[in-house]
Amino acid sequence: MTDERELVLHNVRTVRHGLDVAAHCGSDLAALGCSRVALVTSAPLRDLCKAPLKALHEADCEALVIDSGDGEPTTDDLAAALQAAREFQADAVIGLGGGSAMDVAKLVAALYSGDQALGEVVGIDLLQGRKLPLACIPTTAGTGSEVTPIAIVEDIEARLKKGVVSPHLVPDFAYLDPRLTRSMPRGVTAATGLDALTHCIEAFTNRFSHPVVDNWALEGIRLTGEYLERACADGDDMEARSAMLRAAHLGGMCLGPVNTAAVHALAYPLGGEFHIAHGIANSLLLPHVLRFNLETSPGRLALVAEALGIARSGDDTADALEGIERIEALSANIGIERHLSSFGISENTIPHLAAAAMTVQRLLSRNPREVTEADAQAIYAAAL
Ligand SMILES: [Fe+2]
Repeated sequence: MTDERELVLHNVRTVRHGLDVAAHCGSDLAALGCSRVALVTSAPLRDLCKAPLKALHEADCEALVIDSGDGEPTTDDLAAALQAAREFQADAVIGLGGGSAMDVAKLVAALYSGDQALGEVVGIDLLQGRKLPLACIPTTAGTGSEVTPIAIVEDIEARLKKGVVSPHLVPDFAYLDPRLTRSMPRGVTAATGLDALTHCIEAFTNRFSHPVVDNWALEGIRLTGEYLERACADGDDMEARSAMLRAAHLGGMCLGPVNTAAVHALAYPLGGEFHIAHGIANSLLLPHVLRFNLETSPGRLALVAEALGIARSGDDTADALEGIERIEALSANIGIERHLSSFGISENTIPHLAAAAMTVQRLLSRNPREVTEADAQAIYAAAL
């Protein structure tokens, strides 16, 4: 909370915002001497690849489209994508899609040389380098993966999400074109938007928060509060789409230097075992974790409320509670389930969920209030 705290930022070299900016990917990669580009995406997004493929063609780059798999990526999806890229002899990688496609692309670029295997780089700062240039083109507005040093794949056999965190995963180029998010269905718009909101709130209320990052977080919260309902109500509302893409990008910028906290830690077991989409899992827990955090962070949570449009009354706790109610109303307005029980989770499951969440100490340790296993159980119970 002090500006004397050391802050390390690993930034994307070039970020292009605006309509049709993905058309620059060919010349940007060609300028680095690349001529064989592996474009990693998921099958339903093939249509959105037309513009980048045309741009690559015009820059005399050969391109191979690689399927990143359906849903959240697995270690098998990654292995298949890596093999395809190697057979093609790629010299650059583009990830086009949501967090899944971008995360696979990031790991393909990082592991392509074969110097390290996935098992050797799972964890923090274990990746030694990345030989291939990397560009990311988000088609959702949530993960901010186009700017983060993080990639996550699921090991189906171990029923575990494996996270790689390294500055070498930060892409060289990010292209933010709101038009590419237009075809996103309402449910995905809602869930990914709440993921972005959670990134911003968990960074702002984090034990490791920093004034530089605070500004990004508050702006991301403000944009989500103002525009997410609009983006969900009318997918063609380009002002809302653009604002949400910006909010997600700002949320992503918070993840590297500050990261998330208890909401994400408690959400992990819901994704890994109950296959609840990441943004939904966060939104189910967000109000309950914030109420839990209120006793340690009334001032910060009052500022979150203010960014969400709540007028300040002079009573931080009352303002913060109003802000939390605003988040609950936002979730309800965009059609997101509010209770864990809707996903088949019962009281009997809670001890197991809490035990799994306690293993995510790298995030729990960032929460402004210490979370014990009993606390985690109480938070899940409140969310039932
Ligand atoms: Fe997230």
